[in-house]
Amino acid sequence: MDTNYARVFQHTGAVDKYEHVTYAPGSYASRINERQRAYLRALVRRSFPNQRPDQRPDQRPDQRPDQRPVQHDFACGTGRAIRSLHGLVREAHGYDTSTDMLAKAAEVGTRARLHAIPADGPVPQPAPADGPTLVTMFRLLLNVDDTVRDRALAFAAKALPDPGAGLLVIENHGNANSLRHLRAHRLRGQRWFAELSHDDVDRLLARHGFETVERRGFSMLTQGWYERRGLDRIARGVDSAASVLPGTDRYAVNVVYVARRLPR
Ligand SMILES: C[S@@+](CC[C@H](N)C(=O)[O-])C[C@H]1O[C@@H](n2cnc3c(N)ncnc32)[C@H](O)[C@@H]1O
Repeated sequence: MDTNYARVFQHTGAVDKYEHVTYAPGSYASRINERQRAYLRALVRRSFPNQRPDQRPDQRPDQRPDQRPVQHDFACGTGRAIRSLHGLVREAHGYDTSTDMLAKAAEVGTRARLHAIPADGPVPQPAPADGPTLVTMFRLLLNVDDTVRDRALAFAAKALPDPGAGLLVIENHGNANSLRHLRAHRLRGQRWFAELSHDDVDRLLARHGFETVERRGFSMLTQGWYERRGLDRIARGVDSAASVLPGTDRYAVNVVYVARRLPR
């Protein structure tokens, strides 16, 4: 694994590849993204219910509190997690070390304030915002070392100081207890082959005062299934069904964890 992951996304070639090859329509990553988008939108709707006009008839529309959360997307890249939640958050902030990724996020229509941050050093400060908060962190933790992981979680802890502050949502796109693990022996020497187990994630969260309150799997099968003619349709069917079935998260390749701060 490359220990300086931030450098990988510092040029436009890598950025274009990420946006147009990794996330090309129909690709493995974009199929997962579609399922995650639906899940995230439902999660935000049920976790941050906005006051419906008929619930408080005594209040004028301009006096009704806006309960939509403010989103802080750490390592936002091209703004995928922010675009997934357009309309459901009050405001969004994206933070990333790559100005090229941030430029691409703006180019593809990400509605957010975008902040360039250093790759190391003091923990970045979340932009000041009132009300409920949602911190998102997608496709970062797997491929970085513990220092970067701890810095990212320390950022989340600043934005979410107590259990009532809101939610943290993180993605592990290489669960060590999944089918992907079978490739580990063959590919361990390669730059990008990393794995994270549920226990690793839980320990990381606990170090920063978080506990997992929900876990959901978004792909039981590996990328290879999606790239073999004839198998791709089967793979899509299996993964769509698995992503709504309880219990499949344990062995899923791609897992999302929802966490809340523990009382101090
Ligand atoms: C694989 S991309 C994921 C982008 C986006 N979160 C998504 O899911 O599409 C990883 C991102 O992490 C950023 N990154 C790498 N090292 C970082 C660090 N130390 N702190 C914050 N962001 C970092 C990269 O610039 C890149 O945009």
